[in-house]
Amino acid sequence: MSLHYLELTTESPRDLVPRFFDETALTYDKIIRWTTFGKDKYWKDEIVKKIPPSDSILDLACGTGILTRKIAQKFPNAKIIGIDVSKSYLEVAKIKSKLEQNISFVRQDAEKLNLNSKFDCITSSYISKYCSPKVLIESCLKHLKPGAKIILHDFLYPTTEVALKFWNLHFKVLNIVGYFLPKWREVFIELPKLIRSSNWLDEYEREMKKNGLTVEIQYLTWKSSAILTGTKII
Ligand SMILES: C[S@@+](CC[C@H](N)C(=O)[O-])C[C@H]1O[C@@H](n2cnc3c(N)ncnc32)[C@H](O)[C@@H]1O
Repeated sequence: MSLHYLELTTESPRDLVPRFFDETALTYDKIIRWTTFGKDKYWKDEIVKKIPPSDSILDLACGTGILTRKIAQKFPNAKIIGIDVSKSYLEVAKIKSKLEQNISFVRQDAEKLNLNSKFDCITSSYISKYCSPKVLIESCLKHLKPGAKIILHDFLYPTTEVALKFWNLHFKVLNIVGYFLPKWREVFIELPKLIRSSNWLDEYEREMKKNGLTVEIQYLTWKSSAILTGTKII
């Protein structure tokens, strides 16, 4: 059964974006590494492994550019674009990516992409749960070359009893940690509700298939996250 975020709270996932990301850019890299026990690095490495040889790659919701830089390092001759809605995250991304000459960062909404070019691959880590699957996939399809891939990664609500116990305990601890990290407090309270209510994997899989993409799923770390890859045949 899929729970909707509105049943757990009064807001839509989209409204959380400025509340989560307006003031957290400077500490994001440390927090994501620490709160996922380093798994974020492994998950991003798995995303990069799925990218086919490419001349152009678009990283949606690039944040501080952790994934964007990994992509740029693996494909030094490709043109890489990172887009994000958050000004402060993009500022951090630009500073941290001075060595990667093949990345440009642009402020855009992934649901209203307007880049005037088509890509061999579009990636994103942690955007899916904030967006409408229909709108995001349509937006991506306008920017994909034939044969190109969309690779989406995000958190899942655990389904096994043991994983769920650990997951609940983890967020209880983060709730307490939030008292000492006030800029992250709201994230630590609202993120578990959002993950619990999100049915992003099924919804994006359905939307990709509806648009004629072939789909592949890789579950990661006791199904606490997953990578969904859609390939556009023509
Ligand atoms: C958790 S961060 C992830 C950053 C990066 N992808 C990573 O994995 O480290 C989520 C990012 O999504 C961005 N975001 C959310 N909705 C977006 C949208 N519709 N268009 C562009 N960026 C969006 C936020 O501004 C934030 O920087």
